[in-house]
Amino acid sequence: MTKTTCALLATLALSIALPFTVTADEPVTPKLTDKLDRLLREEMRSIQSTMGQIHSAIVMGQHDSVAENAQKIHDSFILQQSLTEQDRKDLMSAVPNGFIKLDKEFHQLAASLAEAGRGKGTKEQHKLFSEMTGNCIQCHSKYVSDRFPGVQSLND
Ligand code: HEC
Repeated sequence: MTKTTCALLATLALSIALPFTVTADEPVTPKLTDKLDRLLREEMRSIQSTMGQIHSAIVMGQHDSVAENAQKIHDSFILQQSLTEQDRKDLMSAVPNGFIKLDKEFHQLAASLAEAGRGKGTKEQHKLFSEMTGNCIQCHSKYVSDRFPGVQSLND
């Protein structure tokens, strides 16, 4: 193969691959069914208020409350909730793998924070709380940019 053909093929491969890369980071919200949209918003509002409670509990050293509330977030995992088979299918076709990965990571962090609450370690709680906040930002900047255009990625 000549150098020119090589370069041409590389450009072609890029132009085929690029649109998919872009698609993966498109907002997921327009693709959600009404029901999933409602469930996600409900879950998010509940996470938001629980994060506030955890924040207060961390700064006041109320370890039991940290553990209890972090566990609550962990258990609210939307993908493990009583979604119907159809909802589950709708969700999987609306969101890319990266979204599912971030959601899983987020709930794992919540489990670790619950653990840190039980272990009464303020420093560890602070670290995990901050990592969880980073996770909200990553998901919102990548997949909810239509609703939250002001959120910037932490990777840039
Ligand atoms: C894996 C992705 C993901 C993560 C992680 C995530 N969010 Fe969200 N969040 C969303 C999506 C998607 C929406 C928009 C839902 C919609 O419009 O249907 C949203 C919307 C919201 C909203 C607006 C809810 C409303 O009433 O419209 C709040 C508040 C929110 N998130 C808070 C948080 C907080 C706080 C965290 C972290 C502690 C977080 N989110 C982590 C995906 C995520």
